[in-house]
Amino acid sequence: MSQTLARNIDDIITDPKTYGDEHAYHAAFAALRREDPVHWTDPPDYRPFWAVTRHADIMAVELNAANFLNDPRQFLVTIADEDMLFEQTGSRNFARNLVAMDNPDHRAYRALTASWFGAKSVRNLEEEITALARETVDRMIEMGGACDFAKDIAAWYPLRTIMIVLGAPREDEPLMLALSQKIFGNTDAETGGGDGMASMVEASNAFNAYFSKITADRRTNPQNDVATILATATIDGEPIGEAERHAYYLIIAAAGHDTTSSAISGGLLALIQNPAEMAKLRADPSLIAGAVDEFIRWTTPVKHFFRTAVSDCEVGGKQVRAGDNLMMCYPSGNRDDAAFDAPFEFRVDRADAKKHIAFGYGPHLCLGNALAKLEIRILFTEILARIDDIELAGQPAWVEANFVSGLKRLPIRFRPKDRA
Ligand code: HEM
Repeated sequence: MSQTLARNIDDIITDPKTYGDEHAYHAAFAALRREDPVHWTDPPDYRPFWAVTRHADIMAVELNAANFLNDPRQFLVTIADEDMLFEQTGSRNFARNLVAMDNPDHRAYRALTASWFGAKSVRNLEEEITALARETVDRMIEMGGACDFAKDIAAWYPLRTIMIVLGAPREDEPLMLALSQKIFGNTDAETGGGDGMASMVEASNAFNAYFSKITADRRTNPQNDVATILATATIDGEPIGEAERHAYYLIIAAAGHDTTSSAISGGLLALIQNPAEMAKLRADPSLIAGAVDEFIRWTTPVKHFFRTAVSDCEVGGKQVRAGDNLMMCYPSGNRDDAAFDAPFEFRVDRADAKKHIAFGYGPHLCLGNALAKLEIRILFTEILARIDDIELAGQPAWVEANFVSGLKRLPIRFRPKDRA
């Protein structure tokens, strides 16, 4: 192996701090792609795995769902936390949700909501989301020309959208935000309490209690929302189990907004840092729809998911054995120069942006991808139409978490267009 890979590369791959420093992350993973793109990683606190860092290898693994299963390992959990989870629940799996399922269950459970989340059907939400984006920018303007865009704006807008999707009342937003930050930001003391899996289990129990009430309500008052689909769902004529329903709610509620918030705040930061790209979007707002893919490629809020090999096989020239775990390193794949022209350049009109794998690939491709893209397009259309001179007003900071992370602070100054 080359000497350019850091000696402690296995720690770097797993350390939440790497993910709070985009330069550290990209330096380490660029070296991996060059020197050892499918890297056997054996850090002290985690069970070992292959880190798959190239775009083509990640796609090949994710497409071959028959040989690379989602069960039993989905994301990085320390051995100590896995043991704690096993003691408490009898399983090392956090929850039996879509990302933890394989066929035939995955196909059946995904089909319950797939058409609701399809591109055509989420367009029915366009009017409601546009009203929400207007209200969001009103709020930004009321803040008087300065705000912490990550905390004050980007954290709330996708959350409100998910509340609409689930049909949950607006007054419960602060509770939802706190719970999902505990789930994803649980290694960062500032956002999630910093106590790892204990935070996560506590938050997921609170989520379950909350959604039990919504389920009971929708069974007597059905509405046109995902909560009603889940409350009344059947597979092969049988109602779905309570654990599966809770896990379904949880993945939509939690996966649906931290991710999108990160793409929104990271997208804005990239525009501020690349003024010529911001100017292009302002001059031609029809570019915004395509730019959304570049925001998502650039930020790649989900840092990894795992797969487990069913049989011995080769991945990127390495001999993988049955039972080995593989970590799909999405942000690394999205900076792979074998897949993207000048991947470290942020370009709002990038021709190859749609090739990004920030939503994963294959049968588990993000269920909410059309919704996320719709939300981001509508918000940036509104921001760029009504706000000028957006600039940094302090140091941005990232959540230190190795699973889902993005900006936790983005202090900005700006000038509403209608005010001289
Ligand atoms: C920019 C925003 C988002 C990003 C970057 C993102 C990323 C991802 C990724 C990487 C996966 C795993 C894909 C794979 O294993 O191949 C995934 C799955 C999933 N996402 Fe998203 N997501 C986003 C927004 C959303 C939204 C808004 C929702 C909710 C409505 C959502 C719900 C889900 C669900 C339910 C799955 C599991 C799908 C399955 O296993 O079949 N996501 N997402």
